[in-house]
Amino acid sequence: MRKKLKVGVIGATGMVGQNYLRLLDRHPWFEVTYLAASLNSAGKKYKDAVAGRWVMRSDIPQDCRDIVVEDAGKVENAIGKCSLVFSAVDMDKLAIMALEAEYARQGFAVVSNNSAHRSTEDVPVMVPEINYDHLKIIPQQQKQRGWNKGLLVVKPNCSIQSYVLPIHALIKAGYSIDKMIVTTLQAVSGAGYPGVASIDMIDNIVPYIDGEEEKSEIEPRKVLGKVEDGKIIPDESIKISAHCNRVPVTDGHTACCSIQFAGKKPEINEIVDIWRNFTAVPQELKLPSAPIPPMVYRDEVNRPQPQKDRDIGNAMTVTVGRLRKCNVFDYRFVGLHHNTVRGAAGGAILTAELLMAQGYVK
Ligand SMILES: NC(=O)c1ccc[n+]([C@@H]2O[C@H](COP(=O)([O-])OP(=O)(O)OC[C@H]3O[C@@H](n4cnc5c(N)ncnc54)[C@H](OP(=O)(O)O)[C@@H]3O)[C@@H](O)[C@H]2O)c1
Repeated sequence: MRKKLKVGVIGATGMVGQNYLRLLDRHPWFEVTYLAASLNSAGKKYKDAVAGRWVMRSDIPQDCRDIVVEDAGKVENAIGKCSLVFSAVDMDKLAIMALEAEYARQGFAVVSNNSAHRSTEDVPVMVPEINYDHLKIIPQQQKQRGWNKGLLVVKPNCSIQSYVLPIHALIKAGYSIDKMIVTTLQAVSGAGYPGVASIDMIDNIVPYIDGEEEKSEIEPRKVLGKVEDGKIIPDESIKISAHCNRVPVTDGHTACCSIQFAGKKPEINEIVDIWRNFTAVPQELKLPSAPIPPMVYRDEVNRPQPQKDRDIGNAMTVTVGRLRKCNVFDYRFVGLHHNTVRGAAGGAILTAELLMAQGYVK
């Protein structure tokens, strides 16, 4: 049996951090040995640090309850306790950039959920089914930064998975997307805990999420880009216009999309076949968190729905539906994924599995 890799979670007490602990419980390759958060939690046993704010439906994993939470800023405390850290801290962006780079400098593989490093040229923004080959930048990243075995990779914004995976499948099948308009309906869990005030969310929709539209428009281009000369070069050919809304749903981000192709256009049946038959490297490698299939197309006219579809494939599968002609662009469809799993902790764990499977983390 493979010896488990010791991993840590920084920002372990928050919404995404709690999802990490839930998903890493009895993980076949990883063992949680280091937990860190702010000074408010440091020095407390994990179970006491999250008392009254553990929001998962399952209990705190037995193996983590008594781990004493460290101050995430004291990187030296992690040395010897783990080799890889998942970062889910919510702090000032510059502070996060510095903190994550410091973990990497001190020899840790860092897989981050934060946006701070998403536009850093030598840091891949990973959706493992799409840009698994972006990991080849790591030796150049380490050389450029003088890191010995440390490395830094990030996850994209939690809004984009439900439309970038379907788009990627079409590109992989030989089609080009010229432009798309995306309206996202984003769950409250995406705002962390306690998140948006309940009085703003009950019986309401908030048509603004700070910084989200920019991320939803720019990050897909980097995910769909290519590695060249030690940088990720974004695919600037796709133009995206995003409207991001916070809606009173607990988990599951929905995206209503209109797309226009550049050049030849597939027929509706062909698109459905492409989506239904899509598979990728994480599935071929049988990574423990890789959903099979990665994408589901539903024929029912009223799907996908967060309540019914977010948990498919252990909440890692993207569900697509309602593909039809568009009166303005070529086609429209609806995509859905679980934002704190596929869009955050689960997607990052899948990335860490890919790092291990490809030998970047030993
Ligand atoms: N929620 C989502 O769906 C989602 C999806 C993708 C990405 N993200 C990103 O993931 C990160 C975490 O989000 P979240 O929703 O889990 O936020 P959250 O629930 O507010 O949790 C924030 C975490 O950061 C820690 N923290 C805050 N200030 C800190 C400091 N100065 N030093 C060290 N740790 C500090 C907190 O520790 P204490 O408990 O000790 O204060 C807590 O563990 C954010 O960057 C967010 O943008 C979230």
